[in-house]
Amino acid sequence: MRVYIVGTGYVGLVTAVCLADLGHQVCGVDINSEKIQLLQEGGCPIYEPGLEDLLKKNIDGGRLSFKVDIGSEINDYDVVIIAVGTPERERDGRADLYYVAQTAKQIALHATKDSLIVIGKSTVPTGTAKQISESLISHNKITRFHVGSNPETLREGNAVHDFMNPDRIIMGGDNVAINCLQALYEKISCAKVITDTNSAEMIKLTANFMLAQRISTTNALAQICEATGANVEKVMEGVGLDKRIGPHFLQAGVGYGGSCFPKDTKSIISIAEHHRIDPLIFKAVVDVNESQIHFFMRKVEEMAIMTLKNRSIAVWGVAFKPETDDVRDAPSIKVINALIEEGALVRVFDPVATVPKPLKYKITCCKDMYEAAAGAEILLIVTEWNCFKQADMSNVKLLMETAKIVDGRNIFDPQKMRELGFEYSSIGRS
Ligand code: UDX
Ligand code: UDX
Repeated sequence: MRVYIVGTGYVGLVTAVCLADLGHQVCGVDINSEKIQLLQEGGCPIYEPGLEDLLKKNIDGGRLSFKVDIGSEINDYDVVIIAVGTPERERDGRADLYYVAQTAKQIALHATKDSLIVIGKSTVPTGTAKQISESLISHNKITRFHVGSNPETLREGNAVHDFMNPDRIIMGGDNVAINCLQALYEKISCAKVITDTNSAEMIKLTANFMLAQRISTTNALAQICEATGANVEKVMEGVGLDKRIGPHFLQAGVGYGGSCFPKDTKSIISIAEHHRIDPLIFKAVVDVNESQIHFFMRKVEEMAIMTLKNRSIAVWGVAFKPETDDVRDAPSIKVINALIEEGALVRVFDPVATVPKPLKYKITCCKDMYEAAAGAEILLIVTEWNCFKQADMSNVKLLMETAKIVDGRNIFDPQKMRELGFEYSSIGRS
C-alpha cells in the first residue's frame, strides 16, 4: 500500500519506518524542515534502539521517503495517517488538538481524489476521529473521507519491537477504514480488535490509565511497606505471580513520566468532568504520582541534614525511563527543579538524554556517571539505566564527598550498598 504519514516524531517515525519494512511504500511528512532534512540523509532525530538501521535500510530499499509539509502528492497515496503531537494543555490538562486540527485542514485543502482514508494514530480524547471527519468535510466538499482510529501502543525504547510484535492492534472505523487497516497490518499476526472510532480511542486511554494506576497503587503501597517494615519488591513479586494480576507495571519508583501516562491520565479526568462524571479514581492516580516526588525529596532532605543549600548533589538519569532520550514529563526534571529551589549544586549525567534549556544552564552537565558523582554529598538515582546498575560503586564511594545514596528506582541491593559503606535509602524497602 502507499502510506502517507503526517508527523515524524517518536510515534510517526517508528510507524513510517516499520510500515516500510513490512513492504509498504511510505512517505513521512513533517512541518519541521530540519528534521526532514536529517531524515532524508538517513539520520535519526531520536534515540530509539534499532530504528536508525531500519530507517537507512528502507530508504536504500526505495520504500521510504520524507518531505516537508503536506502537498498535492497526498492524492497518490491510499491512506493518510495522522501522528502529530497532542501535548497536554497547561490550563486544564486536556489534550491539545490544535496540531490535529491543522493537519486535518491541510489534508482537506490538498485532497482532490474521489475518496481518501484518514487514520488517527495520535492519542486523543474520545470523539476526535468524528471531529476530524467533520473538519475534513467542512474544508472539502468533493472528496469522500473515511476516518478511522488506530491508536499507537508503542513503548519508547522498545518501539520497533512493539510495532512488529504487538499484543493486539486496535482498529476503529467504517468498513472502508477497517479493510484498509487490515491490509496495512496483514503481515503482523496478533489479535485485531475491530470497533467504532470512539471505542478505539477509549481503549488506548483506558490501557494507559490502567497501567498508570498500577504504578500509583504500587507507589502508595511502597510508602506503607516502608512504614511497616515490609519490602515492596517482595510484596509485588508475590502479588504479581497471581495470574489474574500479572507481574508488569508493579515497580515502585519516583513515579511515571513520559509523553503518554501523565497526559492520558489527565485527559481522562477532563473527559469525565466534561460529562459531569466524578473523576475520583482517575484523580487519585495523578495525585499519588505527584506526591511520589515529594516522598522522594523528603528522603533527600532528611539525608542532607538541615539544608540542601550549597550542597553538591549528583543526579543519575534524566530520561523518563531507560533506552530513550525523551525527557517529556520526566520525574528528573521535577527533582532537579526541587533541588535548585533548595539552593543545591546539581551535577547531572544521562547516557543519552539532555536536560532541556533553560534548566540546563542552572546545573553542571557531566560527561559520565563518575564525573557526576565526584565531590557530591548525595547521589540520586532517577532513571534505571543499565550502566548505573553496572557502575563500580567502590570507585563511586571514593569519588564522593560523603557516601550517601537515595535510589529512586531500587536498582541496588540495600544490604550490599550498606556493606560498601553507603548510607542508602530506596523506595519501599528498609
Ligand atoms: C505521539 C502522539 O502524537 C501523541 O498523541 C502520543 O500520545 C505520544 O506520541 P510523539 O510522536 O511522541 O507524539 O510527538 P513528537 O515527537 O512531538 O512528534 C510530533 C511530530 O509532528 C513533530 O515532528 C512535529 O514537527 C510534527 N508536526 C506537528 C507536524 O508535522 N505538523 C503539525 O501541525 C504539528
Ligand atoms: C506508554 C505505553 O506503555 C505504551 O503502550 C504507549 O501507549 C505509549 O505510552 P511509554 O510512555 O513509552 O509507553 O513508557 P512505559 O514503559 O509505559 O513507562 C511509562 C512510565 O512508567 C515511565 O516513566 C516508567 O519509568 C514508569 N514505570 C513503568 C514505573 O514507574 N513502574 C513500572 O513498573 C513501569
